[in-house]
Formats: sequence, C-alpha cells, structure tokens
Amino acid sequence: MITPQTIEQITSRIDVVDVVGEFVKLKRRGANYLGLCPFHGEKTPSFTVSPTKEIFKCFGCGKSGSAITFLMEHEKYSYVEALRWLANRYGIEVEETEMSDEAKQHAQTADSLYIINGFAQKFFAQQLFETEEGRNIALTYLYERGFNDATLEKFGVGYSPDVRDAFSKAALQNQYNPELLLRTGLVRSYHDELQDNYRGRIIFPIHNNSGKVIGFGARVIGKKDNAPKYINTPENEIYVKSRILYGSYFARHSIDKNDECLLVEGYTDVVSLVQAGIENVVASGGTSLTTDQLRLIKKYTNNLTIIYDGDSAGVKAALRGLDMALEEGLNVRLVLIPDNEDPDSYVKKVGAAEFKKFVADNKKDFILFQLEIMLRDAGNDINKKSEVVNRVADSLSKISKAEDFTKQQEYIKQCAAILKIDEQGLTTLVNKYKRDSIAKLEKNQAFEEQKQEQETVDTSDIFTTSDDAQEKNILRVLLEYGLKNYDEERTIADYILEETASFPFDNNDYEQLFQLYETQYRQGLQPTGKSLLYEANEKNQSLIIGITMSKYELSQLWDERLGHTRKEQFILGRDYSVQDATMSVIYFKLRKIKRMFEQTQSELEQATAFDEQMRLLEVHKYLKAEEVSLTQQLGTVILK
Ligand code: UTP
Ligand code: MN
Repeated sequence: MITPQTIEQITSRIDVVDVVGEFVKLKRRGANYLGLCPFHGEKTPSFTVSPTKEIFKCFGCGKSGSAITFLMEHEKYSYVEALRWLANRYGIEVEETEMSDEAKQHAQTADSLYIINGFAQKFFAQQLFETEEGRNIALTYLYERGFNDATLEKFGVGYSPDVRDAFSKAALQNQYNPELLLRTGLVRSYHDELQDNYRGRIIFPIHNNSGKVIGFGARVIGKKDNAPKYINTPENEIYVKSRILYGSYFARHSIDKNDECLLVEGYTDVVSLVQAGIENVVASGGTSLTTDQLRLIKKYTNNLTIIYDGDSAGVKAALRGLDMALEEGLNVRLVLIPDNEDPDSYVKKVGAAEFKKFVADNKKDFILFQLEIMLRDAGNDINKKSEVVNRVADSLSKISKAEDFTKQQEYIKQCAAILKIDEQGLTTLVNKYKRDSIAKLEKNQAFEEQKQEQETVDTSDIFTTSDDAQEKNILRVLLEYGLKNYDEERTIADYILEETASFPFDNNDYEQLFQLYETQYRQGLQPTGKSLLYEANEKNQSLIIGITMSKYELSQLWDERLGHTRKEQFILGRDYSVQDATMSVIYFKLRKIKRMFEQTQSELEQATAFDEQMRLLEVHKYLKAEEVSLTQQLGTVILK
C-alpha cells in the first residue's frame, strides 16, 4: 500500500493539463483547455480540461474525472499503477505502508512539526495582542506602518517577547518534545536548556496551501544594523524553501479569479497589498524562482506579473528564473516600482486604485524587458550585441510547447524589430537553439558531445559565498565514479556517503539528487550518472547533465596542483579517481567547517553571557583543530 502521505504528495503535484496533455493534444480556451475526446470519435473538440478544478470532462460522451481516473480509463491502469505513473513523472519517491523506519520517522516528525508550529503561531499572536510588551512595542510599530487588526489576524502575525525563553517555557509546559522544538528553529539549545530564537521580533507565519503553518519569518522591530532583518525557519521536514510562496494560501482563489498572479519580494509587500484589497499576491523572498514555485502558480494561472522595486537585487534573481518560466509556459511580465519605493510603501502612498493602474500601465513583457536591458548594456559593441542576439534566441527557443507557437512567432517579430535584425534570421537562430537543446536531452549523446566541449576553466565558483561548488563536486565524483574502489573494503560511494553524512547539503536540488543516488546505491542498484539520467525526473536530468558536463571546477584546479591535466590523465590512462574523491571530500568539509566558523563567529559577536561565550569559544577551538587536520590531509593527498 502506498502511504497517505505519498498520495497526498502526488495529488498535490498533479497538473491535470500536463497529464492529459501527454495523451491528448490540448489547446487553451479561456480558463480551460480543449481537445478531441480520446474516449469517443469526434471531429470537433468537446473534451475539456479545467486546470483549476483539476478535472476533465467531455461534453460529447459525458466522460469525466480527475487526472488519476483519466490514466485509469485511458491507459487502463489500476489506481495504484496510475499513482506510480504520476509519482514517477513528478519524481516523488513512493512510500509503502511497509515503510522503512526512517520514512516513518520522517512522516511522524512532519506531523509533530505542524502541531508545534500551530501552537507557536497562537502563542505569538497572543503575545502581540494581549500583552503589554506586545502592544506597546510590536503592535504600535505595526500600526505605525499602517497595518490594521483584521489584516494582522488574517495573516496570523505575532510577536515573540524580548525574553530569553518565553516561548520555550510555554512549549515545554505543554509537553512538546525538545528535539522537535529544535527542529522547528523556534528555539535553540543552550547548556541543556531551550532558549527562544526570535526574541523581540515580529513573527510572520508561513502557511502551506492547506493553511497549515510550516514556518516563520521573524522580523526585527524598526531598524537594527547588528542583527539580520529577518530570521527564517531552517529547512526541515515541512519547510522546504524551494516550494514555498509566501501568501499563496490566502491568494489562491483570487489568483484564479483574476487569472493573474502578482509576485513581490517581501512579507510586508504581500500583507500591505492584501490589506489594500489586492489579493492575488505572493512573495518569493527575493530569491530566484524555482520550478516547484512556478508550478504552484501554474495551477491557478498562466499569467505571472513580477512587481519589484527598481533597484532591488531581487530583480536580477527574478531574471534568472525567466527561462524556466518560459519552459513552464508562463506569460511573465515585469513592473518596476519607482523612486526607492517597494510595493508595500507604494500602495500605501498612492492607494489601491492608483497602484493597480500603475501596474497595468507599466507592465513590461519580460523577454522584451530583458532584451532592452541587455541592449543598453551592450551599447555599440558589436560583439556584445551579437551575444545579446544569441541570448534572446536561446530564451525564445525555450518556448517550446506546441500551443505557444504563435506566441513565439510574435516574440520573434518584436525582438527582431527591437534588435533591428532580419526576422527570418532570428527564426533560424531560435530553431538552431531549439535543436541544440533537444540534442542535449537525447541523453546518451549529450554525455559524449558535451564532454569534449569543456576546455575552459571556470574557477569563479570557488570564491562565491555558497557551498554550491563543493556540493556539486561531491555529486560529480559520485556520478562519475562512485562505483569504483576507494580502498580494499569500500567503494568511492561508500567513502563519500560515510564522510559527508553529518554535513547536510545547502542546495536543495543537489540534496535531492544526492538522496536519489544514496537510495539507489543502498538498494544495490549501482547508480551512475548515465543510469540516473534515464530514470530521473526532468529537473534531476538537467542537474545531472549540468554536473557531469560542467567545467571541471575544483577538480580541474587541483589537477593543476597535482601537476597534471585531465587530458594527460585521459591519454595516459592514469586513474586519479581516489585522489579526486578524497580532495572533493576534504574541500567539501573545509567549506562546511568554514560556514560553521562564520556561524559561531557571529554568535560570539552577539553572545553576552560569559558561559555562552565560553561554549562558543570551545566550538571555535574544535573547528579550528578540524580545519588544521583537514588541511594537513589535503597536503598528503597532493604530495602522494
Ligand atoms: P525586504 O528587506 O524588502 O523586506 O526583503 P520586507 O519584507 O519588505 O520588510 P520591510 O518592508 O522592510 O519591513 C524582502 C524579503 O527578503 C527576505 C524576506 O523574505 C523579505 O520579506 N529577507 C530579507 C530575508 O529572508 N532575510 C533578511 O534578512 C532580509
Ligand atoms: Mn519592504
């Protein structure tokens, strides 16, 4: 039996248009999709699919149902087979009732976290409205910013008192398990005691689409330079950042009704707009959009309007999501709010009507917007201009769904006009990019072809602040030669799984791929980059391609340190896989330790109690020793 959790996971991901569209050619007609009914012969389409209702219905023969019943009818699957087909399609791991202990644990933890978060939300709201401190400090501040009671209550806003353990105490009194409390990120442990993490902060609960609280954003009151403005819930069983859009629970119906989703950066932007009566709004937290987030939006509408302040770093982040949005078939438009205002301050300044008008008047098509920006940057430089043409063609090639063909044509026309180039020429270039990416997906070939392309070294990743490069590198080694021997007893995969076990990956996509590998490996399936490519979902596929094909990154760098190049390795047939693995692990650990260093450092700066300082210094010392030891190991590997 498949567990209810998995079924829930599957059904929450179902996109009925996508599923039915796999078997029936569908065309958009208003809010619905229309096609020729596969269940009876017809010449004029009367087979309708409604993405919002998540159903299909044929007005000719009367057959109707969900994506699951469609698969059962059309493919003659059993219910369970249909579920498995969907799980496979969406890359969801199927949990059986005969669950592993680990899986059981996961599900139980998730349930408990929902309960604790629900309790916490009520606690914080009570503190905001019913205590003197809450009213004097937090509520006053929120009123000053123009939020009213009804809005604050709707979003469940609260306040965490500026006390060491107000919430911790309440939670323990209510018998909540300390381990689980720690996982929520609401508390931290200090000398075997629990302390509050969000002291003196306004609390914005974050809801999932069924209205359960999955996490919190905790904002300082006013301006404080020495503390982060927001503290967010750490990733846990229920808080998965890449799938969250703040406000989506409250915005769903309005997005549906307006057939448009407004995307802003911040919590307060969402709350303000909703208070002003503009309800179809969600926030991404200023990071670039993920495929999961785009799909969440696509369940309700194809029209996404991004509203950011003009000079926000978020605009750049949002631009990065563009190609993905195009692939998902979304119409993306962009509005920049002028004069250092953000949506929150702007709607308060000009009111809802004016705000709506501004958005309507200034909506820029995303592709054209991007083109204008790139063109401006390119100036009169011919090379740069040609780069722009290529970039645009690449973007346009991502509009690949048949039903979007006219849209693509229209874009080509407009872009060619802006670029002052020949329309036919641009069409040819777009088609070339389309072919290229199809070729890339033709899995086998992609491997061989791209391998040869990689000549240039790009080491820029090493200097970035994220752990991406190191995490990616671990995956590269696993996919490339995890099955080779590391020593007499262990494979390289054994070695890596063992060594990295206590350091979670930061990058959620990498983490998922890592887990996919680990699961298969533990089941004795002998996964390789190639085998996974055949089975993985689309996202993992492109990840795998990216990882195994991408510049050799760190390994290239240390190949140089080792005094040979990969070409040499290839030509001489020498096998450096063990060194490569060892160094990848060491660099990975060093990176993680450096992070912990930074964390301890900043905690040290904030710690006032002597005991706390001492503890942190101990941690500091320990990390230092680890670092020294790792660096020494690195030396031995290089000298080998
Ligand atoms: P903003 O700084 O624009 O915050 O960051 P805001 O929500 O508009 O807050 P106000 O209006 O200044 O009170 C935009 C979003 O980026 C994320 C949050 O999701 C925030 O809403 N963010 C920002 C963080 O996660 N941490 C931070 O320290 C800052
Ligand atoms: Mn703001």
